Parts: sequence; C-alpha cells; structure tokens
Amino acid sequence: MLTVNSIAGVRQQIQSWRQQGRSIAFVPTMGYLHAGHLSLVEQAKLQADKVVVSIFVNPMQFGPNEDFDRYPRTLNEDSAKLQGVDADLLFAPPVEEVYPLGHSAATRVEVPGVSEGLCAEKRPGHFTGVATVVAKLFNIVQPDMALFGEKDYQQLQVIRRMVADLCFAIEIIGVPIVREFDGLAMSSRNSYLNDAERNIAPQLYQVLKQTADTLAKGARDYIRLEQAGLADLKTAGFEPEYFAIRQAELLTAPHEDAAKLVILAAAKLGQTRLIDNLELSL
Ligand code: PAF
Repeated sequence: MLTVNSIAGVRQQIQSWRQQGRSIAFVPTMGYLHAGHLSLVEQAKLQADKVVVSIFVNPMQFGPNEDFDRYPRTLNEDSAKLQGVDADLLFAPPVEEVYPLGHSAATRVEVPGVSEGLCAEKRPGHFTGVATVVAKLFNIVQPDMALFGEKDYQQLQVIRRMVADLCFAIEIIGVPIVREFDGLAMSSRNSYLNDAERNIAPQLYQVLKQTADTLAKGARDYIRLEQAGLADLKTAGFEPEYFAIRQAELLTAPHEDAAKLVILAAAKLGQTRLIDNLELSL
C-alpha cells in the first residue's frame, strides 16, 4: 500500500492508474479504524480495481466544544489495518495541506434540507464541514465511486444530495452498519465509554428495534412512539438528544402511509455521544 501526504502525490498516482484504465473506489475516514471502516474497504475492493482511503480528522466539522483535540490519531495502527485488507493507497494529509489558509477562511459547501435538524440541532455547522471536506477530497481523488457507512445516516443523505446538486460523477454507495456482538453500532467514539456506559450502550439499538417492531405491527402514531423512545432511553441511563421517525432518505416527517421509514437516535452517555438508526420497509 502506498502512503501519500500531498494532494499532488495523490493526483499523480491517480493519473497513472487512470492511464492504465483502472477504476477507483474511495473510502474517506477520520482514522481510528474499526471493523466498520474495514468493511467499507472490503466492499470497495469488490467494486473497483484500486481502493483509496483517506485519513483526515477534519477540523471544520467539529464544534468549539467537541472532541477535535482528543479524537484518537492512530496512523500507524490504521495503516497496518489497511494493509491487512489490501487497500491500495492511503492519503493522510496534514491540516495545512487541506486548509492552507485555515479552515475558517475556506470556501464552504452548504447543503440545505437534509442537513437541517437531527444531528445539526446540537452540532450546528457540522454538515457544512463534512460536505466541504468531502467535496475537496472528491476533487482530489476523483473516484468512480465512494463508500460511506450507514451509521451516519444523515451524513450519507447530505453527501448524496451534494453529489446530485454539484453534478459530481461519483456513485455513492451506502454500506450497512457493522455491530458489536450485543448490537452496539461500531464507532470510533465507543472507546470513550467506561465499563458502566459500555453496558448501557447496546440499549440504544434495543429501543430502535422495539420501535421498529411496533411500527411493523401497524402503529402509526409517530409522535407518541418518539416520546416513548426518548423515555426508554432516559430510563436506560442515556441523555437523549433526539429520537425521530422520518421518511427514509428524505428525512422529512413521514405520512401515515409511508412505505419506507428510518428511526434515528442520538444520545449521550456521560461525555460520549452515540448515534444509531434503523431503516424499515412497511
Ligand atoms: O464519517 C466520517 O468519518 C467523516 O465525517 C468523513 C466522511 C470522513 C468526513 O470527514
């Protein structure tokens, strides 16, 4: 696996692969890789000749009181894991390479609609940071396709919208959530949980599943189900941010006869913020 830190270096390698007629899949990450990330790379390997992975902890998507400074940076371990799944190129730029004038001064990409509400309520500006860095990375790598985990469901819809609106010729592939043995969605932030919090954490998925079961049995009182979900999370020991039933993909309030829904939740355990979701067809 090649490791490249500069934009010029990535462009050179991509150009050489393009001249050989190779297709390219791209997996953007912030590092501290777990099995969920590796499943993105494995999927990418099945879809394209060459797989590029980026590791970049993007300052623009973190709020002032968030975990940018303490977000784990484990480049050597990540690099070994990527070699283990046969990634072809690791792009790990320093912040100055991506934001030479600082991220506050940089041009931004705003995606209205899907980036509003849900996670954006407590993380204003987060999806602008995500859309901006993903647009920059897409322009650098120019892949045929890019793969994102479905755990960050709202993020995935923001990126799909941006790609459609800005006419990027890139196929966006969502990859199912990888879960721990007890149902907890894999996330780099799970490592922040202490033992007591880790024991509570799987109940986030349990509450999503209970709600999905109730919907599958015909319940359509979405507001009451959301309130019940919030109450169940509180009882379990979470400090919930939201528990929402939405139209899948569009993230709008669902009609009573909606055929495809998504239940999304964000909740804190101590200082750690967890998110999860469950899509269901009725
Ligand atoms: O999901 C992530 O890890 C990040 O939000 C992403 C897409 C790599 C952009 O920084």
